[in-house]
Amino acid sequence: MKNVLNNGRPHCTVVLAITADGKISDRPTTAARFGSEADRAHLETQVAQADAVLFGAGTLRAYHTTLAVRHPDLIAQRRQRGQPPQPRQWVCSRRADFDPQWRFFQQPIPRGLITTTQGAIAWQGRREFDQIITTGEVINWPAVFPQWQAQGVERVAALGGGVLVGSLLAGGWVDELRLTVCPLLFGGDAAPMVAALGSGVELELLACEAIASEVFLHYRVIRSGQGAG
Ligand SMILES: NC(=O)c1ccc[n+]([C@@H]2O[C@H](COP(=O)([O-])OP(=O)(O)OC[C@H]3O[C@@H](n4cnc5c(N)ncnc54)[C@H](OP(=O)(O)O)[C@@H]3O)[C@@H](O)[C@H]2O)c1
Repeated sequence: MKNVLNNGRPHCTVVLAITADGKISDRPTTAARFGSEADRAHLETQVAQADAVLFGAGTLRAYHTTLAVRHPDLIAQRRQRGQPPQPRQWVCSRRADFDPQWRFFQQPIPRGLITTTQGAIAWQGRREFDQIITTGEVINWPAVFPQWQAQGVERVAALGGGVLVGSLLAGGWVDELRLTVCPLLFGGDAAPMVAALGSGVELELLACEAIASEVFLHYRVIRSGQGAG
């Protein structure tokens, strides 16, 4: 778990459940809950290994909640590694127009907000986010990762959705992907894909395991966009 910093920045793993046609939900506004209990446990394990969890505003608007670490063994393992019981859960949003009544804001987890100067205004001095990173007029990952690194963040788990993952891949910030292929097809243009991307990303398969009707894929990013985003 230690010394995972690469190229002087935290290691970033994308974790997603996908359909056999590469969709992450049937519509951008609906919460995707098509993975099995094995996939949910896999996701919780990935969250438990992270120092920071990251997701896009669209994902929070769809779920109104996030996955906290609940299994006592995973919490004990975090303590043994010197990590706090829960990773900080960061949401990324330009507008940051969230309802403080959403369950996310009642969950007993540390919460962070990555936003623009304008988006931060409504949340300053409030209890909902214990950390806010502002990156000017736009979301700017080169301003975020060094701040995480300075805070001792070594592992980031990026949990979607497609807009967030596309921007991280385009900027060359993703090191690994863990994709669970679930046995269904959504089809249709309205269903969001793994990543909203303008150019290709080259992957190397590190592991592949089938459990019942799902396939757990582990990829390393060989080459993606560098310098953008
Ligand atoms: N299958 C799975 O494992 C899984 C996991 C997560 C989500 N999902 C599904 O994915 C869907 C949501 O995905 P999505 O792609 O529509 O949304 P998303 O990536 O979760 O969020 C997009 C929003 O995040 C902010 N954002 C993220 N990166 C940004 C960047 N680089 N620059 C500027 N803003 C950025 C913007 O917020 P503002 O609009 O505030 O500017 C943007 O509109 C939902 O249906 C959800 O159920 C599925």
